[in-house]
Amino acid sequence: MSVSTEDIKSRLDIVDIVSESVNLRKSGRSYSGFCPFHSNTRTPSFHVFPDTQTWYCFGECAEGGDVFAFVMKKEGYDFKEALKVLAQRAGVTLEEPSPQEAKRRKSEDKLVDLLTMAVEYFHQLLLHAPQAAGARAYVADRQLNEDTVATFHLGFALDSWDACRSHFTDQGYSDAELLAVGLLTENPDKGTRYDRFRNRLMIPIRDVDGRTVGFGARTLDKDGVPKYLNSPQTAVFDKSHLLFGLDTAKRHIREARQAVIVEGYMDVMQGWQAGYRNMVAQMGTALTGEQMQLLKRSTKRFVLALDADAAGQKATMRSLQVARNTLDREYETRFDARGLVHQEGRLQAEIKVVTLPEGYDPDRIIRTEPERWPLLLSEAQPVVAYVIETATRDLDLDDARVKSEVAQEIKPLLEDIADPIERDHYRQLLARALRIDERSLRLVPASSQRAPSRMPPPPEAPPLDEAGAPQQILAVVPDAYKREANFLRQCLEHPHLILQVNQKLLGQGQDAVRSDDFSVYEDRLVLAQIYERADQTAVVAIAELCDSLDEVLAGRIRRLLVLPVTPSSQLANLPRSLALSVLDWRLVAVNGQMARLQQLLSEPVQADENGETRAQLTGRLVELSLISRRINKAKYAMSAAGQLRAGQEHGR
Ligand code: UTP
Ligand code: MN
Repeated sequence: MSVSTEDIKSRLDIVDIVSESVNLRKSGRSYSGFCPFHSNTRTPSFHVFPDTQTWYCFGECAEGGDVFAFVMKKEGYDFKEALKVLAQRAGVTLEEPSPQEAKRRKSEDKLVDLLTMAVEYFHQLLLHAPQAAGARAYVADRQLNEDTVATFHLGFALDSWDACRSHFTDQGYSDAELLAVGLLTENPDKGTRYDRFRNRLMIPIRDVDGRTVGFGARTLDKDGVPKYLNSPQTAVFDKSHLLFGLDTAKRHIREARQAVIVEGYMDVMQGWQAGYRNMVAQMGTALTGEQMQLLKRSTKRFVLALDADAAGQKATMRSLQVARNTLDREYETRFDARGLVHQEGRLQAEIKVVTLPEGYDPDRIIRTEPERWPLLLSEAQPVVAYVIETATRDLDLDDARVKSEVAQEIKPLLEDIADPIERDHYRQLLARALRIDERSLRLVPASSQRAPSRMPPPPEAPPLDEAGAPQQILAVVPDAYKREANFLRQCLEHPHLILQVNQKLLGQGQDAVRSDDFSVYEDRLVLAQIYERADQTAVVAIAELCDSLDEVLAGRIRRLLVLPVTPSSQLANLPRSLALSVLDWRLVAVNGQMARLQQLLSEPVQADENGETRAQLTGRLVELSLISRRINKAKYAMSAAGQLRAGQEHGR
C-alpha cells in the first residue's frame, strides 16, 4: 500500500501541531497567535486555518503552507525528516523504499551491525581483559567513572595486529567487511592487512539517531601519534556530518534550550559525568554546515567553548562563520527617517563564546575546578563582543586600511543584533576599540545589508473583490487547490508547457511560476520536477520519473495523473489559460492576505502595542494592494477582452 502525505495530513490536525509551539487563540474560523518565525510580541500575525489545514504569517514573513512546511521551518527538517516525524505521529507506516534505496540501507545496516558488535567486543575487553589493566588505570586516571564508561560504551583495542580481525573472522565476517567499516587497514604496496586500532582506548561515535558509525581511539602511550586515531571515511562515517555526543545530548539541549559546543571527546564525557549534558564535540575541526544543520533541529542558541590558543581562536572564528551562514535569518522591513525601505537580515539564533583560560579545556576545568565551569558558561560573551575583542587585540591602530578592513568584517555581526540598544552598544564598543568616530562606522558598507529602495506611494483604499472578503477566503481556497492541481497535471503531461506559461506571465511583468505559489508542500517538489523535465531535451517518461523519486512524491504525482488532461488538439490555448489560472490563484491568495490584514488592523489597539508594528502591517497592506493591482492588470491584458482591445489600438 502506498502512503501519501494526504493520508498523513488527514490523520493530523495542524491546530494540534502548531499549538505545541505557538499559543493559539480562536478568532472566527481560524486561530491566531504570535508568529514563531519572526520576533514580534505585539501583533498576532500568525494564522492557522483548520478548514484548509494551512497556516500563514501576515507579518514580516508573508509566508505560509501546510503542516509539512510548518514542521520543516520550525524544526529545520528537510522533507524526508518531516515525513518521518509526521508519519509516526499519524501512526502511518511509510511505504517500502525504492529497490536501490532498500539495497543501500541494507548494506549500511550491515556495517552498523558490525560496528555495534565491535563496540561490545572492545567494551568487554576494557571491562575484563587482563591486557586492559593499563587502559583501566588510564580511565581511572582521567576520572571517568563506571557509569560514564557504560554510558559511552568505552572500550579497549588489544595491542595486537590481528586480534580484532581474527575475532570477527571467527564470527563469519570477511576482510572486505572489516575494511568497509575501517576496523582493518590495508597496505596496498605490501598487500598486507592489519588491525587499525591497536592498544587504544576506544570511543564509539554514534550518529544523531544513535547508530554506531565509527570510533575515535585515544593512544595509551604517553607520546603516541596520532593522539586520536579516528575511523576512516566510510559509507556510514563522515566526521564532518557528525557531532560526538549528539544522540545522548539532544534531549538535554532541548531542555536547556542551549547547546554547548566543545572540541573533544573527553570534554563531552567529563561534562556528561558532571551533569552538563547539553554538550557536543565537533571533534577537533571547525564546525561544518552539516553539523550546524543537525544542531539547529534542537536549539537556536549556541555556546562555543573551544580552545583558547591561537589555533583554537582560528577554529572559533571559522565555526562562527559557518554558524552564521547556516542559521536562518529573518528579513525585516524597516522604514528610515527619509521613508526609505531597508531589508535587513537578522540571525534567528544566539551565538555566544566562552573564553577558556590559557592551557585549559572543558575537561580539565570540570575535573579540577568544577565550580568554575558554570561560571564560565554564564559569562559567555555574545559573538560580536568576542570578535571585536579578538580582531582588535593586536591591531596596528596606525594603519587606516587595517582598521577599515576590520570594521567591514565586523559590521555584519552588528547588523545581526535585533535589539537596537544592544546594537548601539556594540557599535560604540567597536568604534572605541578601533579609535574611530562612531558616525564613520555607520557609513561603512556591510555586505549583508541590501540596497535601500523607494517606498511606494500609498494607494487609495485597496480594492477588495468578493474572493477577498474575510468570511469567504476559506471557501475559495479549495478551488485554488483544484486549479493548482490541474496546472501541475497539464505541465506533467506536456514537458515544455511551463516555459510557455512563464513566457506569458513574464510578458505581463509577472513572476514565473515559483515554489511558493503552492501551499501544499509536495506540490512545490512536483514543480521542481516539472522544471527539471522542461530543461531536458530528451524527456523521461512519467513512469520512469516516478521510479527515480521518493515514494511519497511519486505517490503525489500518480494521484495528479488521475486528473483529466487537455488533448493535444487544444494545446494552442493552454499556455494562456494556465497563465490566467496562475494569476487567479495568486489573486485569491493576495486578496485573502489583505482581508486578514485589514481584520488585524481593525482590531482595537492594545494598550501596549507599539506604532511600529502597525506601520509595518500597513506597509505590507500597501505592498499587497499594489501586487493585487498588478495581477489584475496582467489578467486583463491576457484576457480575450484585453487582447481584443490591444488589437484595436494596434489597428488604429
Ligand atoms: P585535543 O588535542 O584538544 O584533545 O583535541 P583532548 O580532547 O583534549 O584530548 P586529551 O585530553 O588529550 O585526551 C581535541 C579533539 O580533536 C580531535 C579529537 O576529537 C579530540 O577530542 N583530535 C585531536 C583528533 O581527531 N586527532 C588528534 O590527533 C587529535
Ligand atoms: Mn584535554
